[in-house]
Amino acid sequence: MQIHTTIAGLRAALRDAGSGQRVALVPTMGNLHDGHIALMRQAREHGDSVVATIFVNRLQFRPGEDFEKYPRTFEADRQRLAEAGVDHLFAPDEAEMYPQPQGYHIDPPAEQAGILDGEFRPGHFRGMATVVMKLFQIAQPQVALFGKKDYQQLMIIRNMVRDLNLPIEIVGGETVRATDGLALSSRNGYLTEAERKEAPRLFELLTKVVAEIRAGNHDFPQLERNTVSQLKANNWLPDYVAVRKKFDLQFPSAHESGLVVLAAARLGSTRLIDNLEV
Ligand code: PAJ
Repeated sequence: MQIHTTIAGLRAALRDAGSGQRVALVPTMGNLHDGHIALMRQAREHGDSVVATIFVNRLQFRPGEDFEKYPRTFEADRQRLAEAGVDHLFAPDEAEMYPQPQGYHIDPPAEQAGILDGEFRPGHFRGMATVVMKLFQIAQPQVALFGKKDYQQLMIIRNMVRDLNLPIEIVGGETVRATDGLALSSRNGYLTEAERKEAPRLFELLTKVVAEIRAGNHDFPQLERNTVSQLKANNWLPDYVAVRKKFDLQFPSAHESGLVVLAAARLGSTRLIDNLEV
């Protein structure tokens, strides 16, 4: 695996690999777990050259969020990526990505970026979409892979690519979970032992909502309220539990199919998100 810290270095290496090569890109913020690695393996099936990126993007964190304490575990990440057969690791520093304050931004429309996570993390998706656009321009991939774990992020990237006619195929990867159901996340490392035991409840409650909907309960507001109460009863601080349309995450009508249930809630000081397709 080649490691590149500069844009010029990555571009030169990809140019050397040849113009017929299909480049598959997997952007990450590092502290890699099996969910990230599953995307790397999937990328192998879609491209001749797999490019992983590690960059903790300041632009997508709000003041007071965990940018400073976000786990940076470069050596372990490098090893895991090499084992997974990744060809190129692009790991720039901030001066390489933002040599001057970023002036131009990708501003996703409010109906996509101002709802759900965007309501509780204003500006988050603008910062995310801006760095993803930069990474697309830097690596110029034919395919890019994103996890369904961050369902709204995946939807926004798909729409950005469509709206701006980027010649990139976006592939979504299934959420990888621990054996008790908790979705793998770099933020799980913040949980105390007691919180880690409690954390799978989020997935269990989403599973129940999906089962109810499948059994014919279409009173979505009641299902959402009920789940919020159960989270609160177990000392969670929920931001939202929402039954939405998969395609655009807007409100469904009562008998619509193609639904997804999404939730975000704080357990102690850790904010967890998860979702399940119905
Ligand atoms: P990060 O949280 O590191 O996630 C990198 C990729 O891994 C994302 O596409 C995310 O959806 C996926 N992922 C995370 N947990 C997963 C799991 N349990 N199963 C499957 N896939 C999972 O998402 C970001 O970084 C950033 O916003 C980024 C896109 C890199 C832009 O900065």
